[in-house]
Amino acid sequence: MPDLHSDALVFFGATGDLAYKKIFPALQALIKRGNLNAPVIGVAKDGWSLDQFKARAQDSLEKHGGLDKDAFAKLIGLLRYVGGDYNDPATFQALRKALDGAKRPAHYLAIPPVLFEMVVNHLADSECATDARVIVEKPFGHDLASAQELNRTLLRVFPESSIFRIDHYLGKKAVNNVVVFRFANSFMEPFWNRHYVDSVQITMAEEFGVQGRGAFYDQTGTIRDVVQNHLFQLMCNLAMEPPVRTDSETIRNEKVKVLKAIEPIDASNVVRGQFRGYRKEPGVKPDSNVETFAALRLEIDSWRWKGVPFYIRAGKTLPVTCTEVLARLRHPPSVIQPGSRSRNHLRFRIGPEMTIAVGTTVMAPDDAMAGQSVEMVASRHPRPEEMEAYERVLGDAMIGDQTLFAREDYVEEAWRIVDPLLNSASPVHEYEQGSWGPSEAVESVVPPGGWHNPASSDSEDYRVTEDN
Ligand code: BG6
Repeated sequence: MPDLHSDALVFFGATGDLAYKKIFPALQALIKRGNLNAPVIGVAKDGWSLDQFKARAQDSLEKHGGLDKDAFAKLIGLLRYVGGDYNDPATFQALRKALDGAKRPAHYLAIPPVLFEMVVNHLADSECATDARVIVEKPFGHDLASAQELNRTLLRVFPESSIFRIDHYLGKKAVNNVVVFRFANSFMEPFWNRHYVDSVQITMAEEFGVQGRGAFYDQTGTIRDVVQNHLFQLMCNLAMEPPVRTDSETIRNEKVKVLKAIEPIDASNVVRGQFRGYRKEPGVKPDSNVETFAALRLEIDSWRWKGVPFYIRAGKTLPVTCTEVLARLRHPPSVIQPGSRSRNHLRFRIGPEMTIAVGTTVMAPDDAMAGQSVEMVASRHPRPEEMEAYERVLGDAMIGDQTLFAREDYVEEAWRIVDPLLNSASPVHEYEQGSWGPSEAVESVVPPGGWHNPASSDSEDYRVTEDN
């Protein structure tokens, strides 16, 4: 029943870290905006009481975003709690009872993926899955084969129209704004293609390390953690064709088409790095070869993009926390500025603030025919009342809008592209914390004009520069 609002939200992993940091704040925000009136049933294996669970919700909100008195009171009234083992049918009988006749529950699996199959099968056996939706947290599998297996598991119980695979990047306003900016401005289309764009680069830099998630990270690495999902989604928004309609399937079809046009990436187009000290992080193997940094090059073999290299770079303990896209345009003929290397660019800053900047050349103030690079910048900081990513995606799942979720074919295509890299024996180069990665190694994967290192904040005098 894809068009009907879910009448209960069940979340597994209710006492976990994700619930604490993201889900309770999202639930309170949904309530505040009047978008959540259904019972919210937390499920976890710890044998907590409902009061302990409510106290956890309160603590979570006080630490993450602040408690809103009225919305919190309403949330407390909606909360239910079911404790028990995920492998015990009695837990699911208790859940069935707690659902109290709900006809279209949404089950949110905020639990480690190894538990998905068990939970999904018990949901089916207990009839909790009937007419229900399932919302699945990332990571969705750890390679192509495991993602296919996971899809088979889910599809045995739920139709694709009831499966919501979360990629919280899709809940970010600035990521969606890329699509709006491209297709709501007629000046974009004539130059947004291989005839004018020389290269596109995406950098997702994080100043922090693995933040106590060493055990998880050491089985994941940068390519699985953020490239295969978050940064590919951003790339698809940059590269997709205009959808002919705005329904979820038309838009998701366009994204899948982008991925279909990309060959599996060869190890020679990737540089992997590991920050110095990573191997001493709790939960990390002392001889780990897992990457905390990756830079890669790929091509989209389509009518629009053939021959335009796309570069993606992501890493932990880099100098700033910032995600930014830079598309450099081809050089104009150097009539006005003989020998000049300046050219236009388009810069999308995805976070921390949202910026769209157009790099242009204007006449320098002191020299009649010499050019000066100037960026025209539209930038703004997120406002407190704006939706956070988790509020947006959970709200959309509850109303059954799949636009901002990864479809079965999408996740499999994304894994297909990175699959050759996942267990490759390619070297991992050490880099200093606070640097832009293993600089010498990265020289083999450098966009024309050089990597653009984003600044920590988009100040007025900030300019994109070219290295060569
Ligand atoms: C998560 C990754 O999916 O995304 C983290 O597991 C990463 O490693 C995070 O830090 C980044 O998301 P955001 O919204 O903080 O930019």
